[in-house]
Amino acid sequence: MSALGIASLQMDTPLLDRIAKQGSDFLGVRFPFICGAMTWVSEPHLVAAVANAGGFACLAGGNMPVEVLREQIEQTRNLTDKPFGVNLITIAPAYRSHLDLVTDLRVPFVIFAGNFPRRSEVEKVRSAGSKVMCFASTHSIAKRMLDYGADALILEGMEAGGHVGRVTLVILLQQVLFEVTEVPVFVAGGIATGRMCAHLFMMGAAGIQFGTIFAISKESRAHPRFKQYFLRANARDAVATPQFDSRLPVVAVRALRNRATEDFGKLQLELIKLLDEGRISRDEAQQRVEEFWMGRLQQAVIDGDIEHGSLMAGQSVGLVNAERSVAEIIETLAADTERELRRMQELLQS
Ligand SMILES: Cc1cc2nc3c(=O)[nH]c(=O)nc-3n(C[C@H](O)[C@H](O)[C@H](O)COP(=O)(O)O)c2cc1C
Repeated sequence: MSALGIASLQMDTPLLDRIAKQGSDFLGVRFPFICGAMTWVSEPHLVAAVANAGGFACLAGGNMPVEVLREQIEQTRNLTDKPFGVNLITIAPAYRSHLDLVTDLRVPFVIFAGNFPRRSEVEKVRSAGSKVMCFASTHSIAKRMLDYGADALILEGMEAGGHVGRVTLVILLQQVLFEVTEVPVFVAGGIATGRMCAHLFMMGAAGIQFGTIFAISKESRAHPRFKQYFLRANARDAVATPQFDSRLPVVAVRALRNRATEDFGKLQLELIKLLDEGRISRDEAQQRVEEFWMGRLQQAVIDGDIEHGSLMAGQSVGLVNAERSVAEIIETLAADTERELRRMQELLQS
């Protein structure tokens, strides 16, 4: 890596440039490698570091008060002149004011997460001049989001960190990526090598979204204990929260196993027993389930409480074993993608 940390921008990657053109042009970046939003992790310095190294990153709106999000958008703009996105959680308490804010500030890209956005919300953001990216977990959802006006889609397999669906990326590629031709489709979940990126580009992906690999980058504000725990973890340690009873629905989150995941399992079993005995109402039981994880991501990322916090991580955690700078990550991804594309080219020509 150059001393300036911008070697990625000067790299000679003709095959990658060609195959990634749709995604690069759409995002307005050198490489369509996206650092997906990560609540508590994706703050202005990380976002700007990725943007300045030629990638694309998203600020995480999360549960932030609207004034804090405003400051973060302004701070990011002071740290980079490159495009970036803002990720809004449609079920967040301040969602409506987040929506007003991103339209007022005309941020270049808005990514809707949580539930699916309404048509009017997609239209509102687009009419302010922003491009809209939506998650799609089935072909019919993809069609609905396109009908609402989404400019691009993100397919996220259940291998990913954070809130996850129930379908692997391998299935989504066949169900959605191979079917959608109208807009750029970005893919996420369990990806951490350039070699894999090369094959995903060949399959038609416009770009690749990552989370975990950037959560433990040098520029990530995550606590050193959080990063150390990740560096030691294997893919099998990143598990989705189980649901034991349909009376107690659980939103699945993929995170590293720790004391909190065990305690959460025990809590569910205790609540099921109380429900069976008629000693608790369903509403009360559900509330206790929902309260359990409140504040736990902050506890892990910021305070470094690796026992009781939520250690959201994708299975890609098993592919990452060093803390590297954002520029090194992007350069390595680009160089390895290019190498694999060249290998494929030679293989097909031989
Ligand atoms: C700690 C953490 C927090 C996350 N928070 C969010 C979020 O706020 N919004 C969102 O859309 N995705 C969130 N994600 C998902 C990432 O943006 C990304 O899509 C995912 O991590 C990709 O899978 P990978 O970790 O295997 O690379 C989060 C992921 C992690 C690891």
